[in-house]
Amino acid sequence: MRSNTFNVAVLAGDGIGPEVMREAIKVLRAVEKKFSLNFKLTEAPVGWAGIDAAGQALPDATLALCKQSDAILFGSVGLPDRDPTIPKDQRPERAALLRLRREFELFANLRPVALQKELAHTCPLAKERQGNGVDILVIRELTGGLYFGKPKAIEDIGNGQRRATDTMVYTTSEIERIAHVAFRAADGRQKTAGKGKAKVTSIDKANVLENGILWREVVTKVGKEYPGIELEHMLVDNAAMQLMLKPSQFDVLLCENMFGDILSDEAAALAGSLGMLPSASLGATRGEQVFGLYEPAGGTAPDIAGKGLANPIAQILSAALMLLYSFKQPESHNAIIAAVSKAIAAGNRTGDIFNPIDDATKKIGTTEMGDAIAAAI
Ligand code: IPM
Ligand code: MG
Repeated sequence: MRSNTFNVAVLAGDGIGPEVMREAIKVLRAVEKKFSLNFKLTEAPVGWAGIDAAGQALPDATLALCKQSDAILFGSVGLPDRDPTIPKDQRPERAALLRLRREFELFANLRPVALQKELAHTCPLAKERQGNGVDILVIRELTGGLYFGKPKAIEDIGNGQRRATDTMVYTTSEIERIAHVAFRAADGRQKTAGKGKAKVTSIDKANVLENGILWREVVTKVGKEYPGIELEHMLVDNAAMQLMLKPSQFDVLLCENMFGDILSDEAAALAGSLGMLPSASLGATRGEQVFGLYEPAGGTAPDIAGKGLANPIAQILSAALMLLYSFKQPESHNAIIAAVSKAIAAGNRTGDIFNPIDDATKKIGTTEMGDAIAAAI
């Protein structure tokens, strides 16, 4: 029998991280009771909190804890104004987040974007353009491309000139493995949602970049293994436009690292608020285990940090994704999704999703939203 005990490294980080993490933990505790699970949650510092506690954005002890855990529940890191003079390779974004992605080879980043009907007013698109609503899964390759390619440098080239280089590089196998994740996810969405034909839209810049040409070739080849799934290729600039014009045409969006970073923020805006967007960063399957890092796609939001205003839903939904992908507990995952929907349907709104002309809703803070969701479990 598989164990019902799961070890989680809880890395809340900076800005709104700690306050939204508190609510995710509250919800996990409610799930634990209801589904007879046992979460061993161990907190450790990361980001500026890591620098303050141990002089490193990713302290050795925090990394060691992650290695012993079944999954990482991550908040957010980076405070742009905190110390602009810190060397770039010690900055939390690179030294903690990118390092963890690399260290655990978390190559597959899943960002589900869904607009709940009660929140249609938060979508910047006119009602007619919303079509049947927005329900997109962005799959972003996370350990290749411009973020990690070598050479990467700023160098003096004489005459007072400097030159910056970032390298976009992908191998066949890197493209293959992320393509398989996308096709399998499309297949899974079709089965669980009982939708029409599942579709993968693969994003590239094949008209200009060598990377785009190889990406398109390899994804096409992998797609032949999934005859039940429609494959469409789209240039990234057109995709950015189509997302605004007709988001309902998309099901699964498959992107390389940088394009996925940009398009996932754009897609998130369609769902009203970055505060609603969870993400899962997954590595290769080890036996039955899938190690993953689960984090909201939004940042530290320093402007509202510490005020109890932040929307904890992205953090709570990230914890739900952890239950689904790393712990294989679809019932408790579904229970969290349902509890979030219920809390919203009951009129609970943090400031980012509040509509002042809707009398059936009330504006609440971070803690109250966590309470409402935990109570609905
Ligand atoms: C994201 C973020 C990160 C990224 C930053 C914080 C390094 O924007 O997860 O989308 O660019 O990947
Ligand atoms: Mg981003």
